[in-house]
Amino acid sequence: MNESFTLAGLTFRNRVLVASGTFGYGDEVLGLVDVNALGGIVTKSLSMKPRDGNPAPRITETASGMLNSIGLANIGVQKFIEEKIPKLSLISCAVIANIAASSIEEYCAVLEALDSFEVIAGFEINVSCPNVKEGGLSFGTDKTKVVLITKELRRRTKKPLIIKLTPNVTHISEFARAVESEGADAVSVINTLIGMAIDIRTHKTKLSTVTGGLSGPAIKPVAIAKVYEVYRAVKIPILGIGGITSWEDAIEFLLAGASAIQVGTYNFVDPSAGAKIAAGIKLFCEQQSISDVGELVGAVQAERKLSVIESWL
Ligand code: FUM
Repeated sequence: MNESFTLAGLTFRNRVLVASGTFGYGDEVLGLVDVNALGGIVTKSLSMKPRDGNPAPRITETASGMLNSIGLANIGVQKFIEEKIPKLSLISCAVIANIAASSIEEYCAVLEALDSFEVIAGFEINVSCPNVKEGGLSFGTDKTKVVLITKELRRRTKKPLIIKLTPNVTHISEFARAVESEGADAVSVINTLIGMAIDIRTHKTKLSTVTGGLSGPAIKPVAIAKVYEVYRAVKIPILGIGGITSWEDAIEFLLAGASAIQVGTYNFVDPSAGAKIAAGIKLFCEQQSISDVGELVGAVQAERKLSVIESWL
């Protein structure tokens, strides 16, 4: 049974990755979790300089989910190179560096700083963080900027280039088409949805930044609909993300059109969830006499005439 997945010349052992921001830089869990049972790790977003992120409170639980307003806190690319890359070189699953920035120049500089390291198998570009004033959503909701970022980064790397899209737009498929035409190798669908929570006794917002990004099982049906929409619009692979907690969830994403999936918020509950999900997909396929997990991709049977999404495409 073939579990592997190839993206722009890079072969992932299986179709389960862990999502940026939910697994540190990948090295913290070594010895605790068998990371080599994963298809890949996506690092926390890296910027040029270290960032402290937003003031606390910056995480709050919600029904079946979580709101976060971390604000892209990270150690900066230089410290990542010095302290994390040597440890990541010891693992055999694919390491994808996620990059966030407040200018196009910064995206380019971070990518150029990392591109020559063999252990960095590819890049995921965060143009969708809802928790920062510069960069993030202000780029990700502006198609012209997303196009320019993709074009500039494409010129600078031959490694797989994955653009992580926001669902906080009217039609995510338009953004997917735009980055595909600029040479992106794949899209990650979706980043978090903007949300807000209020303490009814103090009347204060539960996050210091008022709003944050909603993740977890609460967003799974939204994410699946976005994956389905994007699958109908582009030919490049989709990495599906949003509330996955089980192999059954992962298979739903594959059927909707994801070529691979990322486990996010659920890593905070069980850091070995990704490995368990990969094993669950394998067993399911064996039981169903499916010889390649890829057979499931986009195999949903949907009555397109009744789907509102078809009229957007
Ligand atoms: O605020 C954060 O660090 C979250 C990033 C994101 O959702 O992209």
